[in-house]
Amino acid sequence: MANVQIFPDPQRLAQAAADLFIRTAQEAIRDRGFMVTALAGGTTPNMLYALLASESIRDQVDWQYVHIFWGDERCVPPTHPDSNYARSNTTLLSKVGLLPENIHRIPAEKKPELAAEEYEETLLQFFSSLPTEDLRNQASFDLILLGMGDDGHTASIFPGTPAVNENTRWVTALYVDKLAAWRITLTPALINRARQVLFLVSGPGKRDALQHVLYGSYLPDRYPAQIVQPRSGAALWMVDEAAAALF
Ligand code: 6PG
Repeated sequence: MANVQIFPDPQRLAQAAADLFIRTAQEAIRDRGFMVTALAGGTTPNMLYALLASESIRDQVDWQYVHIFWGDERCVPPTHPDSNYARSNTTLLSKVGLLPENIHRIPAEKKPELAAEEYEETLLQFFSSLPTEDLRNQASFDLILLGMGDDGHTASIFPGTPAVNENTRWVTALYVDKLAAWRITLTPALINRARQVLFLVSGPGKRDALQHVLYGSYLPDRYPAQIVQPRSGAALWMVDEAAAALF
């Protein structure tokens, strides 16, 4: 059964997500000396990123020990308004003390397949450089942030695409017909190795998909967010009342 927390509004959802991010970062840095996270794209996380960058909160994370990856990226330049990197750089990365070498951007301005291959290599090199054999074998993100579209997609794992059942490669490029656009995405093979996955879902437009993803039959080709089942068992859904209206 999914672990779901329902909040009255997007503001309190973002605050709870910030609390979890901070707690996860502090524990990871205390226990392993670093935190590795993947940011979600889209607009829902913006409030969370702004909170994490705010004066009252940002010093609760020792950002120099945080490694930033992304769950997915649009195939546009990093300065493009649609870029997940550009949006998170504006709201968060440029405002906290991350080390530049610890910001692992998806090179989505390159040819899609090349971008996917390069990012997969970046991830393989990162995890193979970890200090202990256990950490190298686990190859686990401490926290992966994910959104969900009104069609039940997550990251850029869209309904009916091969990405849903990609259990070998860690990163893949896919052409999304409904968007008429290429995307780069982490795959279930890597996402499901995470210690913790946090979904952030807000707004009435998500309520039909959310109801089915959480409580409907298991149809991941139709509702790809269902494919996210971390081996750790730690998939938490933070949703607002508008998105949870059908529960
Ligand atoms: C993206 C995201 C995507 C997003 C959902 C929800 O690049 O767009 O990775 O999976 O999380 O589409 O988007 P909103 O938060 O904008 O509703």
